[in-house]
Amino acid sequence: MKKFGMIVIAVLTIFAFSLSASAGVVDDKCAKCHKGDKAVDKIAAKNGIKDGDALLKAVRGGSKAGLHKNLSDEDIKASGAELFKAGKTKKKAAEGC
Ligand code: HEC
Repeated sequence: MKKFGMIVIAVLTIFAFSLSASAGVVDDKCAKCHKGDKAVDKIAAKNGIKDGDALLKAVRGGSKAGLHKNLSDEDIKASGAELFKAGKTKKKAAEGC
């Protein structure tokens, strides 16, 4: 029974960490350079980026790829997931129609 309790606590802890990690990738990794008009969600909306893969391509293939070389593919995809899950850019797209 003691073991079971430990497992439950471990699972809850991992769950809590994964939630907090996915809550602020953009704030954590991108916002120090991307602020105001240059916020990542604005860039994504302007460039028609709609998912994590497109974001990754834009970052890696863009003229500013060198500025992003410290970011891992996971960071970029995670920030994409965060942006597009939140529906920030979807709302913009709907407004444009
Ligand atoms: C060291 C500063 C810095 C960090 C950190 C950073 N960026 Fe950038 N990023 C820039 C600059 C500067 C530009 C160019 C902005 C412009 O064109 O006006 C840029 C451009 C971009 C572009 C447009 C690509 C292009 O070449 O047109 C995307 C997409 C982007 N960043 C995504 C991200 C994401 C997602 C993150 C976080 C995971 C991130 N950036 C973190 C500095 C940074």
